[in-house]
Amino acid sequence: MENGKLCNEDDEFVAVEMKEEVSKEMKSWFVGVMKMDKLGWDQFKLWALGIITMMILFWVFALQLARMRMGPTPIKYDNNQPNSQDLFPPPRLYKNQGYLMVSSNGGLNQMRSGICDMVTIARYLNVTLVIPKLDKTSFWNDHSEFQDIFDMNYFIQSLRDEVRIVKKLPPRLKKKVERDSLYSMPPASWSNMSYYYNRVLPRFIKYQVVHFSKTDSRLANNGIPDEVQKLRCRVNYDALRFTAPIQRVAQKIMALLRENGPFVVLHLRYEMDMLAFSGCTEGCNEQEVAELTNLRYRIPWWKEKEIDPKQKREAGLCPMTPEETALTLRAFNINPNIQIYIAAGDIYGGEKKLAGLRAFYPNLVKKETLLARTSELKPFQNHSNQMAALDYLVSLYSDIFMATYGGNMAKVVEGHRRYLGYKVTISLDRLMVVTLIDQYKNGTLSWKEFAESMKAAHANRMGGPIDRVRIPGRPKEEDYFYTNPQECLP
Ligand SMILES: *[C@@H]1O[C@H](CO)[C@@H](O)[C@H](O)[C@H]1NC(C)=O
Ligand SMILES: *[C@@H]1O[C@H](CO)[C@@H](O)[C@H](O)[C@H]1NC(C)=O
Ligand SMILES: *[C@@H]1O[C@H](CO)[C@@H](O)[C@H](O)[C@H]1NC(C)=O
Ligand SMILES: *[C@@H]1O[C@H](CO)[C@@H](O)[C@H](O)[C@H]1NC(C)=O
Repeated sequence: MENGKLCNEDDEFVAVEMKEEVSKEMKSWFVGVMKMDKLGWDQFKLWALGIITMMILFWVFALQLARMRMGPTPIKYDNNQPNSQDLFPPPRLYKNQGYLMVSSNGGLNQMRSGICDMVTIARYLNVTLVIPKLDKTSFWNDHSEFQDIFDMNYFIQSLRDEVRIVKKLPPRLKKKVERDSLYSMPPASWSNMSYYYNRVLPRFIKYQVVHFSKTDSRLANNGIPDEVQKLRCRVNYDALRFTAPIQRVAQKIMALLRENGPFVVLHLRYEMDMLAFSGCTEGCNEQEVAELTNLRYRIPWWKEKEIDPKQKREAGLCPMTPEETALTLRAFNINPNIQIYIAAGDIYGGEKKLAGLRAFYPNLVKKETLLARTSELKPFQNHSNQMAALDYLVSLYSDIFMATYGGNMAKVVEGHRRYLGYKVTISLDRLMVVTLIDQYKNGTLSWKEFAESMKAAHANRMGGPIDRVRIPGRPKEEDYFYTNPQECLP
């Protein structure tokens, strides 16, 4: 075990490499000097001594300068967040108890919160975290690695005062794991810290390297000490930054939107995978229903096969259609001329399905339309998680954010916007919304009654400060920690 070995191997390596560079330069310079035997030797000696001294001084200085610059220069994240310290605090000293490898599962946002939990668990178990492996098998079929989405060096360096994070397993342990097999386990869902201390830590002591095969919802929402909760936030809201190219393009998109004033981001989760997976077919014709149902039966890990779409919708469990979304936005008096940025993949049925929304909100845009005349999206286009990262950033900084389904993106963006100062985030009570829409459509409610009921039902669902709902024993029904990370909010 590498107990107590805390220095950063990479830094050391770079310094050694630089010394070698220096001596090579010196050698070639000497060779050059020796050839100059035309000059008088004494005169030359003095002159050469001077030059050599200057060169040495210069190189020592350059070396110092280069070392000072070694620390990563954090990229400016955005204009709203204060730029963090240029120099990171020193690493935390602790007795390393093993290495944690993790395979994150799910889409971008599910992986994101899972990674925050894993850093936190590694920190409090005093183990070293190996950069997470991202899910490449999910429906989205994206092969991006951690460093293709997140700024890996910033992640490692900015957290070093809490936990040691390495790019890969040290060679000795890698060999051991390859020889003896890797101990792998999915931690029990929604566990508290006692579970990790009492049940998981002994396995690190025994195997040195432990692999978690899943990272989603492994840590409880509540009953976790404040300091632990605060670290979850620090990872999520500071350490996990998207790569510079993703940030640049997201900034470009936001600048284009801002040229035309305020904008709403609509996470319109009306994509093929969502509809097929949920079995929700409101607004689809027979052929489309058949296509979606076939897809659901084909994907082995979408376990629920028999679904009654009508019943599911009336229980408030379906994503809203573009048409229902338009009624909702109108009920909230959202100006029909405002720009609406659709943060989503391809809308199922395309323009035909969007018509019901466009009729009332003609200024509908997406990243693909805003950047249509450039090739800036090209590097991201085949990587759904990188595309989702662009939407995530635009969603964070919009004037209003609304999601038509309570999925992972809706949840983490809502929490992040709370963290950024309670920015307006409409969190729909979909059971209430479908009930009111149906009553309006069948004439039970007038437009005025409908709009007033909608506003009243959402008065406390606009992203302001509220208490996180806690339901001991039923974690899935509670408010998600990352939706309302109260312990970290102003
Ligand atoms: C982790 O290390 C700290 C000292 O740095 C110690 O106080 C703490 O008890 C350790 N935690 C575990 C779970 O071993
Ligand atoms: C942690 O969870 C276990 C099992 O779910 C429970 O018995 C225990 O009381 C919890 N501990 C704390 C500190 O909440
Ligand atoms: C994206 O993938 C498709 C096929 O999967 C390929 O034809 C296309 O060239 C790729 N685009 C980029 C920009 O890599
Ligand atoms: C209108 O729709 C609501 C909600 O679905 C239902 O409860 C009500 O009975 C309907 N009223 C009429 C007149 O159809």
